[in-house]
Amino acid sequence: AEALKVAIAGLGTVGAGLVRLLQAQHDVIAARSGRSIEITAVAARDKTKDRGCDLGGYAWYEDAAEMARDADADVIVELIGGSEGIAKETCEAAFAAGRHVVTANKALIAHHGLQLAGAAEQAGVTLAYEAAVAGGIPVIKSIREGLAGNRITSLHGILNGTCNYILTAMRETGRDFDDVLSEAQELGYAEADPSFDVDGVDAAHKLAILTSLAFGVEIDFKSVSVEGIRHITPDDLQYAREIGYKIKLLGIAEQGEQGVFQRVHPVMVPMSAPIASVEGVFNAVVTKGDFVDTTVMEGRGAGDGPTASAVAADIIDIAAGRGGPAFGVPVSALRKMPTLPLDSH
Ligand code: NAP
Ligand code: HSE
Repeated sequence: AEALKVAIAGLGTVGAGLVRLLQAQHDVIAARSGRSIEITAVAARDKTKDRGCDLGGYAWYEDAAEMARDADADVIVELIGGSEGIAKETCEAAFAAGRHVVTANKALIAHHGLQLAGAAEQAGVTLAYEAAVAGGIPVIKSIREGLAGNRITSLHGILNGTCNYILTAMRETGRDFDDVLSEAQELGYAEADPSFDVDGVDAAHKLAILTSLAFGVEIDFKSVSVEGIRHITPDDLQYAREIGYKIKLLGIAEQGEQGVFQRVHPVMVPMSAPIASVEGVFNAVVTKGDFVDTTVMEGRGAGDGPTASAVAADIIDIAAGRGGPAFGVPVSALRKMPTLPLDSH
């Protein structure tokens, strides 16, 4: 079969990680998808930057939306970030040109996922975003496909690797918040604006996406109640430890009588809970379904390798002809059931 041609917009932590993965795993991926996957074009701002990978054979664009319109590509991979501006324009340009889109951009999906999924449906192409939630854990496919025979009654999880890394390091070493945050930034875990991480917004983006998939409702990011971890001190973490608890930033969605309640906030988790042992950059997602009962998924929630792994899975799906509706059903079939903030509980 003909090679699937891929153009990558954004060559930072995730984009460069994806180039490395696609180059290193070329044979494995070709065997699994039945065709090879070829990078044809890349886009970023600074052409002179060393990105730790060979970009020699690819067309170079400074304007990602122009690449999405003009490059010789079947799939545009958006790894720039941000809910507005160039990331959204790039996806829209790709759909207008009849190309599939793969993205790791949870802010974009949380704010505009329905609109973009509608545009993909109209164009007869795929919008895929496995890497947008919980890094390397295949949680989108697991909820959308693996648990499709269940009514999900609740889900909760550690959805931000940066916060879990900070809380773990502060508890274990007593180190200062800002110091550990800088380390998470150096490791490529944090968002371009790390306040999205530490104020709980990134976890709320991810929770809104999972809520839509798990409960079959339209994404409703604005109804997530959000509290972050800035006010947590090493003393808080020590006191919690002394009485048998760990403090974790959790995203929680529960079916209530009036709708789905979505919230992100620090939680005292008993040491005996499986989620208490999820440390550092690791994430975990726990779901409850009526037939399957409890499932727990754990893995690295951020970083180049794990995130590139999730992006690659989406590209391989497209190569193998496994693209489907972004939210499991056509956008028009998503329920408009109200999703409600915690304070209306
Ligand atoms: P990053 O390291 O900051 O990389 C962003 C890339 O976008 C850079 O290569 C930058 O170019 C490029 N870029 C920025 N503005 C641009 C523009 N106007 N035109 C063309 N290129 C532009 O970000 P990242 O950590 O890889 O994250 C990328 C996306 O993945 C975000 O949506 C993020 O939320 C998501 N994500 C990240 C992780 C993670 O662990 N980092 C995990 C899951 C999802 P230059 O390099 O030339 O400046
Ligand atoms: N900044 C995000 C995190 C990246 O720390 O979890 C992964 O989505």
